[in-house]
Amino acid sequence: MRTDLHPDLARVLVSEDTIQAHVKVLAHQISLDYADAEKIYLIGILKGSFIFLADLARELSVDHVVDFMAVSSYGNSTESGAVRIVMDLRESIAGQHVIVVEDIVDSGKTLTYLLDTLGGRGPASLRTCSLVRKRRESLDLTVDYLGFDIPDVWVVGYGLDYAEKHRTLPFIAELKEEVYQNDG
Ligand code: PRP
Repeated sequence: MRTDLHPDLARVLVSEDTIQAHVKVLAHQISLDYADAEKIYLIGILKGSFIFLADLARELSVDHVVDFMAVSSYGNSTESGAVRIVMDLRESIAGQHVIVVEDIVDSGKTLTYLLDTLGGRGPASLRTCSLVRKRRESLDLTVDYLGFDIPDVWVVGYGLDYAEKHRTLPFIAELKEEVYQNDG
């Protein structure tokens, strides 16, 4: 039991050691699956994916290019509102083997939008990788490379934030309900 948890946090959901072990497994699987590819394109979705992508990319044994996109959803609800691109890729992905790298799949809205949008740009292949996915009855979306399924609670750390806080924690933790309820 940790005694030094920040008072905003209820408990550690995924430890640093467990995350790092799973990052290695994911990178190994990707490296095997793309062993015959000349290179792959990793597309990190800002901001949340930057830590996971940095660790994942450094474990790959297949040649890779890293690029980033930023998207935004209108409104705070993860259930409604449109997704829009606020920062696009620098280069064309036509003919490339692309993996979209996310920190979390929550409602699935962001990844669904990205698959549709990027799929229209003519990649040779398009797959998805996410460190975590929230367990939701309503989620009908396959993640090709997935680290963990987690409960449907507010999580922070390893790229995930609450109002820009706790993003750089090395583990994933559950935020106390009172923290986000007090902020309305
Ligand atoms: C988070 C996360 C995903 C998205 C997932 O980003 O990084 O991109 O939400 O949610 P969904 O499955 O319900 O679409 P967020 O909007 O919090 O932005 P950030 O990464 O910049 O913190």
